[in-house]
Amino acid sequence: MSIKTKITCIGAGYVGGPTMAVIADKCEDVRVTVVDINQARIDAWNGDALPIFEPGLDEVVARARGRNLFFSTDIAGAIKDADIVFVSVNTPTKTFGHGAGKASDLQYWEKTARQILEVCDEGKIIVEKSTLPVRTAAAMERILNSNDKGLHFEVLSNPEFLAEGTAIRDLFAPDRVLIGSHQTESGLAACEKLVEVYAHWVPRENILTTNLWSSELTKLTANAFLAQRISSINSISALCERTGADVDEVAHVVGRDSRIGAKFLKASIGFGGSCFKKDILNLSYLCEYYGLPEVAAYWESVVKINEWQTHRMVSTMLERMFNTIAGKRIAVLGFAFKANTGDTRESPANLVVRDLLNERALPVVTDPKAIPDAKRDLADVLDRVVFEEDVYKACEGAHAVVVCTEWKCFAELDWKKIHAGMEKPAFVFDGRNILDAAALAKIGFEVACIGKGKAD
Ligand code: NAD
Ligand code: UGA
Repeated sequence: MSIKTKITCIGAGYVGGPTMAVIADKCEDVRVTVVDINQARIDAWNGDALPIFEPGLDEVVARARGRNLFFSTDIAGAIKDADIVFVSVNTPTKTFGHGAGKASDLQYWEKTARQILEVCDEGKIIVEKSTLPVRTAAAMERILNSNDKGLHFEVLSNPEFLAEGTAIRDLFAPDRVLIGSHQTESGLAACEKLVEVYAHWVPRENILTTNLWSSELTKLTANAFLAQRISSINSISALCERTGADVDEVAHVVGRDSRIGAKFLKASIGFGGSCFKKDILNLSYLCEYYGLPEVAAYWESVVKINEWQTHRMVSTMLERMFNTIAGKRIAVLGFAFKANTGDTRESPANLVVRDLLNERALPVVTDPKAIPDAKRDLADVLDRVVFEEDVYKACEGAHAVVVCTEWKCFAELDWKKIHAGMEKPAFVFDGRNILDAAALAKIGFEVACIGKGKAD
């Protein structure tokens, strides 16, 4: 099939890789090149073991790679050759200077804009794929269009809503695709060009177009709303524990109200992931910047409750385990921030392990996919943490097991066998409410779940 459009994506990470693989898979007349400064990452994308674990991704890449999907480190060449350039680089929280700890660190972003300008000898459509502070497109345009080559660049905002672990499913059938553009003739024409790409497989009514600033702000708002639901139910989980209510029952019935909806009401040890905290703090910083301290404080409280919820886990352990866990082996089941991913960024398990170490316990970490990343995250305390591939061995001789990630395989373990090998009384702390608490109690475990008080 002849190629109609050439796309280059800068950044071959959790978003750039899967998103571009799906575009290539669904659009045989589009040639997609994904570039990155990280040679090892690009080598992995070109090899048999892809750099990220994502259900269904291997198959998509196998279909498109070498046909109309390419991975390369020739960033300049790929930018020059493209009609549309997506920018999907990381936008972490700033760690220095003004806004440290809250604002987005846009240095990678600005470098990318300058590099695009340097290598281009014709104007292009530039697409913000990364999650960015509202009005970033204005800064990008000023850099790009301040050239003395007479080139015009049109910047679009096309935020990504995929969730890790379900990325391929989300990309194949998105609830919506959002494209923001200037409402000018050239802005709308660029927008239509991108709409045509997605329209290869997304129904037109699910491709929503807005002005640029609405699009940028929608992405931050969507993540803030999702995280807010988790913090809301987690705050109620604490009250359930004090009152004898059951948070899963409360969430189920609350979620049956069609105005509220059932999703994202699963109480947990806290949300993790590279984006919720980063994006909410960024939103909060923007509110402060625009003179809205009350709004900033409102959103920041979502992050504060989340951290409090995670710290509650080791407090509960202390309370149940006779106020001391010093010297006790504790099996930590799961280090990924959620199931079906090897990603550990901002994982609540990291905080739990550090809280355990503060109490001088002996954490043993096990995870079906995330041990390599866990070792990286815990590099500063490696001598005090044990890593164990085999979950049964991790639990052997432990005083307690704490479930930090909702991997299905943990619910399917032979818990009788685990109980037999543990110190007694054997404790289970289910930070995800995925285990059959009644069955575990029958085996002889002392069980503590999130948001489940004593019913009598
Ligand atoms: P990531 O860290 O996995 O990937 C970013 C990649 O960009 C890295 O491989 C890095 O080497 C590369 N990079 C950085 N600077 C570069 C440069 N100048 N030139 C070329 N490559 C460069 O990050 P991610 O998880 O893919 O997130 C990217 C953006 O997408 C972020 O803004 C994030 O908020 C947003 N987002 C992420 C998710 C998610 O599920 N991870 C979902 C939606 C949106
Ligand atoms: C989230 C959003 O769901 C995506 O729409 C968004 O694109 C993405 O952030 C992003 O911008 O990066 P992700 O972080 O990959 O996706 O995963 P989620 O499924 O949202 O889970 C986030 C965290 O919340 C996980 O730790 C998960 O275990 C936790 N969670 C989720 C709960 O504790 N309870 C729930 O009911 C749902």
